[in-house]
Amino acid sequence: DFMSEIMGISALEKQIKDKLNLTKVIIVPGDSDEQDWVKQEMGKACVGYLKKIVKPDFAIAVTGGTTMAAVADVMTPLDKESSYLFVPARGGIGEKVENQANTIVSEMARKTNGEYRLLYVPDPLSESTYQTIINEPSVNETLQQIKSANVVMHGIGDALKMAERRKTSESLLNELKASKAVSEAFGYYFDENGNIVHKVRTVGIQLEDLVNINHVITIAGGTSKGQAIASYFKQGKTDVLITDEAAAKQLLRES
Ligand code: G3H
Repeated sequence: DFMSEIMGISALEKQIKDKLNLTKVIIVPGDSDEQDWVKQEMGKACVGYLKKIVKPDFAIAVTGGTTMAAVADVMTPLDKESSYLFVPARGGIGEKVENQANTIVSEMARKTNGEYRLLYVPDPLSESTYQTIINEPSVNETLQQIKSANVVMHGIGDALKMAERRKTSESLLNELKASKAVSEAFGYYFDENGNIVHKVRTVGIQLEDLVNINHVITIAGGTSKGQAIASYFKQGKTDVLITDEAAAKQLLRES
C-alpha cells in the first residue's frame, strides 16, 4: 500500500546515502527506462530541492541530456522575488538540439523568468581551436560565469550509449570498449572503478571544478544506469543524488 511504499523509499534513500556517502538522496518511485513520466518526477524533485537552496543572484549551471530536458519541462519559478542566471555547463555536444545544454538553459530561464547565457562552442574541440576559442571575449565571459556557478545540475550516462548517441568515431568507440568504460558525465568517461578512461576536450566545467561548487546535484535514473551511477560515484563529487527506485535497487547490487 501507499504507506509501505513510502517507508520502502525512505529506507532505500538511507541505504544509498550511506553507500555513496552523500549529503542527501531523493528517490522517486518507478523506473525511468520503462516510463517517461518517471524522469519528470525526478525533475519535479529537483525543482523542489532547488527552491530550498537558491539564494538571490545564484547562477545555475546545467548539462545536457534527456534527464536535464525533463527538469526543464517541469521547471516553475523558484521564488517570487528573485530571478536566476542559467548557464550551460559545457559546449554543445553532438546531440539533438532539444537535449543540448544551451537549449535547456534557455527553457529553464524562460520558465523561471530568469536569464541565460549560451556557449557557442562545438564539442569535442581540436587543441588549436580550443586555445583560440577560450580567448574569444564572449566565450570567455560565459566561461567565467560557469566557473563561478553556485549550483551545478548534471546527468550521468551509460558510457557506450552516450558515445553512440554523440556519433563518436569508430576508433574512440573501440577505445572505450577496450578500456571498459561504463559511465559518462561532463564529457569524462569512467570505468567501473571510477578511473577516467577518456575525456572529451571541451570548454566549461571540468571535474576538478566541482569541489569549488557549493551545490552539485546529480540526476540519473533507470535500471540501465545502475552500474553507470555506481561507477561515477567512485570519484565524482556530489552533494545530492536524485534518482528513481529502479536505479537505486540496481545500485545496491553493484559493488
Ligand atoms: O552525460 C550524461 C548524459 O547527458 C545523460 O543523458 O539524461 O539522456 O540519459 P540522458
